[in-house]
Amino acid sequence: MKKTKISIIGAGNVGAGLGQRLIEKDFADIVLVDIVEGLPQGKALDILESGPIVGFSHCISGSNNYADTADSDVVVITSGAARKPGMTREDLLKINTGIVSSVTKEAVKYSPDCVIIVVANPVDAMTWVAYKTSCFPRSRVIGLSGVLDGARFATFIAQATNAPVTDVSCYVLGEHGAGMVIFPRLAKVNGIPITEILPKETIDTLTQRAINGGAEIVGLLKTSSAFYAPSAAVARMAEAIIKNTQEVLPCAAVLSGEYNLKDVVIGVPLKLGQGGVQEVISIELTPDELSTLAASAEAVKKQIDTITI
Ligand code: 2OP
Repeated sequence: MKKTKISIIGAGNVGAGLGQRLIEKDFADIVLVDIVEGLPQGKALDILESGPIVGFSHCISGSNNYADTADSDVVVITSGAARKPGMTREDLLKINTGIVSSVTKEAVKYSPDCVIIVVANPVDAMTWVAYKTSCFPRSRVIGLSGVLDGARFATFIAQATNAPVTDVSCYVLGEHGAGMVIFPRLAKVNGIPITEILPKETIDTLTQRAINGGAEIVGLLKTSSAFYAPSAAVARMAEAIIKNTQEVLPCAAVLSGEYNLKDVVIGVPLKLGQGGVQEVISIELTPDELSTLAASAEAVKKQIDTITI
């Protein structure tokens, strides 16, 4: 019987961190791939050797050869340049288009039926690159955005309300960037909208901090972008797909008329399960909220229009 397999392209902080999180969840074999000789092999072996301590039975291996990713159920693309302090995700558009396109070509050669999860930034545009390069149905190409941004916003809300993070639910939609869309009315603590709990100025501060969340980490680390929360977010997405949980998670997806948007990628609520996106969930938005989302999509469209595949 075919074993469940997740391949991670890029053995940097996000890729290796994701490999560790996934193998410790113990529901799939993991293959870590990188162009740097020894890097994926060394990190994978180090993680594997934690098995007797942590207690997982699946295997994680490292390789410089895409053939070792053959028949993956999910392929995660983390490879690409990361931001430095002062850079925007959009500054990575040109360099990462080339990287994501070539990585996608190689990955789908060996796993034509996989679901692709894109992490490389600017992730909405890079998800479009993977979609166009792979020629996959849009359901099988997803980007990391709202799960990460929502986790940041939920963290800040929990701090501001002294609530456990597990009591906080929120949706972050739109571009994974400056055009991120946060509707405070959709953020709740124990089911109560934060607009009924926190003053507007506080909500505005928390919203801005969430939008700036990635840059805040880059500014602190100086030589790296975030990787603990991003890897946790991707692990949640991959688990929903592999275990067919039908969980609704906000991720970057190719829209084809939902929210009156098409031929663009932005973060929207997706029901994730076997085969990737099982449904794009359309939440009721007011006309103003729809136009805010449309403006966010327009920013991504401008990036997509500069891409030639
Ligand atoms: C972030 O927001 C890497 O884009 C990712 O940290």
